[in-house]
Amino acid sequence: MPALVLLGAQWGDEGKGKATDLLGGSVDYVVRYQGGNNAGHTVVVGDQKYALHLLPSGILSPGCTPVIGNGVVVDPSVLFSELSGLNERGVDTSKLLISGNAHIITPYNVTVDKVTERFLGKRKIGTTGRGIGPTYADKINRVGIRVQDLYDESILTQKVEAALDAKNQMLTKLYNRRAIAVEQVVEELLGYADKLAPYVTDTVLVLNQALDQDKVVLFEGGQGTLLDIDHGTYPFVTSSNPTAGGACTGAGVGPTKISRVIGILKAYTTRVGAGPFPTELFDEDGEALRRIGGERGVTTGRDRRCGWFDAVIARYATRVNGLTDFFLTKLDVLTGWEQIPVCVAYEIDGKRVEELPYSQTDFHHAKPVYEMLPGWSEDITGAKSFSDLPKNAQAYVKALEEMSGAPISAIGVGPGRDETIQINSFL
Ligand code: GDP
Ligand code: IMO
Ligand code: MG
Repeated sequence: MPALVLLGAQWGDEGKGKATDLLGGSVDYVVRYQGGNNAGHTVVVGDQKYALHLLPSGILSPGCTPVIGNGVVVDPSVLFSELSGLNERGVDTSKLLISGNAHIITPYNVTVDKVTERFLGKRKIGTTGRGIGPTYADKINRVGIRVQDLYDESILTQKVEAALDAKNQMLTKLYNRRAIAVEQVVEELLGYADKLAPYVTDTVLVLNQALDQDKVVLFEGGQGTLLDIDHGTYPFVTSSNPTAGGACTGAGVGPTKISRVIGILKAYTTRVGAGPFPTELFDEDGEALRRIGGERGVTTGRDRRCGWFDAVIARYATRVNGLTDFFLTKLDVLTGWEQIPVCVAYEIDGKRVEELPYSQTDFHHAKPVYEMLPGWSEDITGAKSFSDLPKNAQAYVKALEEMSGAPISAIGVGPGRDETIQINSFL
């Protein structure tokens, strides 16, 4: 019953799409368990580049069944435009399964996301504006709309009424916006029902039966550990649990079933949106990482903030996820630096701190303590095995492994499927 979780070990955009796609050929199911179309997962197959937002990256592997689990929030309009975009490029999407318990991102959730960000002003989170936070808020407040609600008009109408009651008060009285009509929302949502129907099922049952039959299931996280609502840099986080436990709740699979937890780890650090980031660079090195690494958001097109590798964060990711492996990505981007700084600890109010502080105030004050590692200038994009890497690149990987607390089992040396050095098998 091999069940693998693959998740972001930093602030997202570590290369989860590429890693998932790489494994897609050898697994039976790829499951998104949280988040929604705030994700932007890039997959490069030959000369074709795909940007997936809501659909699991396994959709590009013909033998693999892609699953949207109960923990995901689904914007039906995005779902259908993503599906038709893939169909036009010849990708068969007919095997997709969607949990009837997944929550729907309604148009009013998107409105509330945008309006609240605007009114937060300087304190804004820098969300993707896709309605993610408000949809999860409705779920927790028990006024959410689930996929299955589209199949009972009376229940759907009652639920939309309940959800809009307070929101319309807020929109009209606080934010000076127009009220949203219940009938209009119900009509739009009902319009998706028939098209969605072939995909909707009890995914919890399907996945557990698959595991009982020794099928291989891969859980693909969105976002990353430091964006987790419980374990991330709250409040500058997303509204779900990208960490490993989220795979269990977001797919309905018990923790005893999970055999491997793989953390995707960029060889440096990036972040999109607001919030603390100790190793962030504001100089030419930051610019160079952004340029060479192509660090621009797949979902919003925003420039990503860039900085050096932070081992404190990597150790934290190992701990809160129980990581068994790391997949180190984008090592090729670091080619050309004479020396590469790596953050090994923080200095907080004059004291050296080795582990991520739980206090938000302390983390905001954390200054990186750097160790300099020697760089390399050889092109590594063609490397197929660890021994093909220059000695200093090997030493960089080994140093990161030592500091981060789990074996580095694969290394990315380019965006393509083949541009990967596999050290230990994941299966
Ligand atoms: P995700 O959200 O974690 O799936 O990551 P994104 O797709 O948002 O961002 C990662 C970017 O890096 C994408 O453009 C990938 O094609 C690219 N990428 C992934 N792995 C590597 C690698 O090892 N080297 C290089 N140069 N690019 C990579
Ligand atoms: P992938 O899966 C990077 C960030 C946003 C914002 C915060 C909250 O591609 O790694 P939200 O819209 O989720 O309420 O925004 O989270 N964020 C991401 N940053 N990669 C992502 O996804 C992200 N999804 C959300 O920028 O700071
Ligand atoms: Mg991304």
